[in-house]
Amino acid sequence: MPSLTLAERASLVGPLDYKILKTIYSLHRNHEWIMTSELVEETGLRLNELQPVLLRLYNLRLLSKQIISGEYSYRITFTALDILAIKKLYVEKVLKNLGIVIGVGKESEVYVGYNFNDEPLIVKFHRVGKRSYKNIRKIRNIQKDKDWTVISVENAEREYQALDCVKKNYGYVPQPYGKAYNAVAMELVEGRELYKSELTNPEEILDQILSTIRIAYNECKMIHGDLSEYNVLVKDGTAYVIDWPQWSSPENEDLLIRDIDHILAYFYKKYEIDKDVDAVIDYIKGKP
Ligand SMILES: Nc1ncnc2c1ncn2[C@@H]1O[C@H](COP(=O)(O)OP(=O)(O)O)[C@@H](O)[C@H]1O
Ligand SMILES: [Mg+2]
Repeated sequence: MPSLTLAERASLVGPLDYKILKTIYSLHRNHEWIMTSELVEETGLRLNELQPVLLRLYNLRLLSKQIISGEYSYRITFTALDILAIKKLYVEKVLKNLGIVIGVGKESEVYVGYNFNDEPLIVKFHRVGKRSYKNIRKIRNIQKDKDWTVISVENAEREYQALDCVKKNYGYVPQPYGKAYNAVAMELVEGRELYKSELTNPEEILDQILSTIRIAYNECKMIHGDLSEYNVLVKDGTAYVIDWPQWSSPENEDLLIRDIDHILAYFYKKYEIDKDVDAVIDYIKGKP
């Protein structure tokens, strides 16, 4: 059913489907393919009750299956993980409806959604796919046997943690509203990416970005790690730093230098603002 939207698919998932998806998800912490006999044991359902549900979830493309040791075994798909997240955000009264996709990145899909007052918000689904998975492993030294669902969920948790800490300390980031599985719900910043903006106040915007990076470093012990004109949104003369899942701790000073180099190079090239990298690094680190 490729033409169904994520929201439409979510509405087709009933309580029993949800229970089975949740069970398969939790078993993924141990291994990738979950055998039918394991599901019988975990859910307490009889085989003839379970089988039609598994078939239905497979037809909805929420499960993949393959035969292992003569038995059908299952794993959840990205769409299924997204649906678990939507349902949880709904139960937690964060998200009432999911709207359209506004951004598809290497490791995420960004949607507009609506809260229970029908106000718009952002839902970012982390999807660490097979392609980017290898690179990430290389960069972050991730254990070989970690499942992609586990890594996607960790990314969402890390992004939420960063937004929460930086926002609480008055940095300029979207307000986080909640997290569930691989999704983070946050404030919709109705602006443009920095690289698409023609700034009338470039100095002020750069200062806001640097002050956010300073707060992240000193108050949250976090280095963004992917700071660029693509990960800053500008709205009404204010800059919001987005896209935090890859943050790292202050020991990785080379990442801080790279972040600052990137952003200063952009402001130099486009607005001829010339700042000394070392002086900016001292400022970020809170030195007088
Ligand atoms: N809070 C937000 N408000 C408005 N747009 C957003 C927000 N978060 C993300 N976006 C949009 O989605 C795109 C991708 O988001 P981002 O967090 O940078 O993820 P990634 O680059 O890893 O896919 C952004 O460039 C922006 O256009
Ligand atoms: Mg980005």
